[in-house]
Amino acid sequence: MPSSVLSCYFVGIEAEEVIIEADISKGVPQFNIVGLPEAMVKESRDRVNSVLKNNGWSPRLKKIVVNLAPAGVKKSGAHFDLPIAISLLLEQGLIKKENINNYFLMGELSLEGKLRGVIGTLSAAIFAKKKNKTLIIPKENLREALLIKDLKVLAFNNIKEVVSFLNGEFYPENTTEIQIDLSPDYEVDFSEVVGQYHVKRALEISAAGGHNVLMVGPPGSGKSMLAKRIPTILPKMSSEEIIETTRIYSIAKKLNKKMPVIKRRPFRAPHHTISDVGLIGGGQPPSPGEVSLAHNGVLFLDEFPEFKRSALEVLRQPLEDKKVQIVRASSSVIFPANFILIGAMNPCTDTVSGEECPHYIRKRYYTRLSKPLLDRIDIIVEVPRVPINEIRSEKKRESSSEIRERVEFAREIQRKRFGTPLKTNSDMSKKEIKKHIELNNSSQKLLDFSVEKFKLSARSYDKILKLSRTIADLEGADKIEESHIAEAIQYRIYEDSLLF
Ligand SMILES: Nc1ncnc2c1ncn2[C@@H]1O[C@H](COP(=O)(O)OP(=O)(O)OP(=O)(O)O)[C@@H](O)[C@H]1O
Ligand SMILES: [Mg+2]
Repeated sequence: MPSSVLSCYFVGIEAEEVIIEADISKGVPQFNIVGLPEAMVKESRDRVNSVLKNNGWSPRLKKIVVNLAPAGVKKSGAHFDLPIAISLLLEQGLIKKENINNYFLMGELSLEGKLRGVIGTLSAAIFAKKKNKTLIIPKENLREALLIKDLKVLAFNNIKEVVSFLNGEFYPENTTEIQIDLSPDYEVDFSEVVGQYHVKRALEISAAGGHNVLMVGPPGSGKSMLAKRIPTILPKMSSEEIIETTRIYSIAKKLNKKMPVIKRRPFRAPHHTISDVGLIGGGQPPSPGEVSLAHNGVLFLDEFPEFKRSALEVLRQPLEDKKVQIVRASSSVIFPANFILIGAMNPCTDTVSGEECPHYIRKRYYTRLSKPLLDRIDIIVEVPRVPINEIRSEKKRESSSEIRERVEFAREIQRKRFGTPLKTNSDMSKKEIKKHIELNNSSQKLLDFSVEKFKLSARSYDKILKLSRTIADLEGADKIEESHIAEAIQYRIYEDSLLF
């Protein structure tokens, strides 16, 4: 009867069980791993071989077969080192453990047997808890695993400790007492931005209602500076959001000792030369792209018109569905991708005089932007340069936490409205707009008048309604007043004056 040990493999950010069986028998000396291992898993063989040799645990001149079941799915990652080594020690009788299948094991091994951090610990932790197993992991991954409350987890420095533990000779440190600090520690703050009151206001509305924004302004006017600070005014991350985001970063190999857990809302700013796969995710095994790394945070596309059309087109699915599906010949995986999109672009200016281009050229420049994407952008705001003497002024400015309080207030109203924290005003369908937005006489009149005067498009009409809902929510107002409509119109005029 071969000895078996449990571990897991990953499909997207979900963990699934792997049974690792080892068989050592007489025959031509060789060491094979079967069950669709990918290159990295095959290399486990060499690492495990060295570890066994260096610790005097090597089965001499024997035929070794390690099987990873289920056999039909490809398995990748270096985390199989530890369970493979343990299965071989069990098979040789060097470990005496009856209830070994109460444990899930993960860990990469150095040649002398040190445990190195692995990807996917958090997903494995969620799975282990569901299956009521104890997770055995490298020390480096402990903080990540501890995000899961009441998880049974043991963390070790090296394989010798694991072996001693399984033989009942050693017990690792108790982890139930360890507290992890989940308060966000942003390095930037809105109070650093001088002036730009109307832009800050637009970004507050964006954060409050989940509205996507395009900022238009000359170089150096502070567009990047403002965008970087949006995560700081979004609501504090819930523990579910921290877990979800950390899982994505773990699978994407983006966690390290300094950053074992994602407790700040992400800010991702991919360059416009990024490939479609980089943006949306892919590869073998499929890894999350920028849209998923921005999950629960902000995706900032600077120099918006420079992005390839194909890149902008692939953003349509995550913007609609808040997730991406990566389809492979044999399988498909889903990664979450719920973010606020912030675009930035320079206005069209004459390169010699620096003056703004004539209307017809501006129009042509603007129509280069992807229509389907513009469909998803509710707010367009101009960002002028702030005069240098103003930048030097020392006036007291509002901090991110003050703005965030108002955003959280408006989000709470929306949570009650939609019965879920996952939906915001920007997500309202036509039907929901009808249901949740009631205009009084004068605000209806103002809207009708503006449609006429500014030649507002039909799509702007719905966006104005959604924006005015958020603006009213920020005030705690139930009914939409004239002032809410008037402000919402401000965020639509730019586009409609150029497009239509
Ligand atoms: N309103 C402001 N308050 C304080 N500093 C500012 C402000 N606007 C600009 N700055 C300063 O100018 C620098 C340049 O701003 P930033 O890079 O955000 O401009 P930008 O609009 O993104 O420019 P580009 O179009 O070249 O990307 C900032 O790092 C900041 O130091
Ligand atoms: Mg910039």
